[in-house]
Amino acid sequence: MLTLSHISKTFNPGTVNEKKAITDLSLYLEPGDFVTIIGSNGAGKSTLFNAIAGSFYTDSGSILLDGKDITFQPEFRRAKMMGRLFQDPMRGSAPGMTIEENLALAAGSGGWFSRITRRDKERFREQLALLDMGLEDRMRQPVGLLSGGQRQALTLLMATMVPPKLLLLDEHTAALDPATAEKVLEITKSVVEEHHITTLMVTHNMHQALELGNRTLMMDGGNIVFDVAGEERDALTVDDLLAKFRQGAGKELDNDRILLS
Ligand SMILES: Nc1ncnc2c1ncn2[C@@H]1O[C@H](COP(=O)(O)OP(=O)(O)O)[C@@H](O)[C@H]1O
Ligand SMILES: [Mg+2]
Repeated sequence: MLTLSHISKTFNPGTVNEKKAITDLSLYLEPGDFVTIIGSNGAGKSTLFNAIAGSFYTDSGSILLDGKDITFQPEFRRAKMMGRLFQDPMRGSAPGMTIEENLALAAGSGGWFSRITRRDKERFREQLALLDMGLEDRMRQPVGLLSGGQRQALTLLMATMVPPKLLLLDEHTAALDPATAEKVLEITKSVVEEHHITTLMVTHNMHQALELGNRTLMMDGGNIVFDVAGEERDALTVDDLLAKFRQGAGKELDNDRILLS
């Protein structure tokens, strides 16, 4: 469903700041795969997402989504097929617009000049109620008034309202307090499962990496150093995962935010 063939990306080539961020990386995702990604600082995780989302074109290699070659498709076109969440909850929704206006834009039913119908509102209310954050009673309030966790949950709803072909989650719970992070993660799980959305999720939580989804990738130095799924993955502990990293990368996992417990 997503095929990356030998993609590479070097920043500032030929200068003192040259940085090979992705080096000859290949990856194939099955439809409905929910893949967790873990790796050291600067391993290239966010760069991989930027390459998939089209924030820049890769220097070499090709990207296919659902059989279609999107290697040189501009970001705004890919955005229609991909949902994306970042660590920063302030990205992804418009603070000056109300909750229902944001949802209407995400649903494609609320262009700047079109009205939000009563049926839209009912649907939004139902979906907001599922978040269990009381947002269904605040639909006419500007999004800027929400807490980080509420806003991230809303962004998740917006990103999946029209189920995307691919969902990219880049440490989307890392900036939230533990209880809220847990809640946003629960919502993530149920939304992804309900719509069978093919998902890539970067996390620094080793337990999350093993518990969520059906496959785990470890990245280092711009490539995948360990890739596990199925029974082998089910049997893995966090310690095993660290050992696998050591084998694959030839060093200890170095991430100052990594969570082992
Ligand atoms: N726009 C950019 N310009 C220059 N260097 C970059 C840019 N984006 C990322 N890098 C570098 O590429 C490497 C990979 O970064 P990144 O993908 O953000 O790592 P991760 O998300 O795994 O922590 C890092 O060394 C980073 O400094
Ligand atoms: Mg990153």
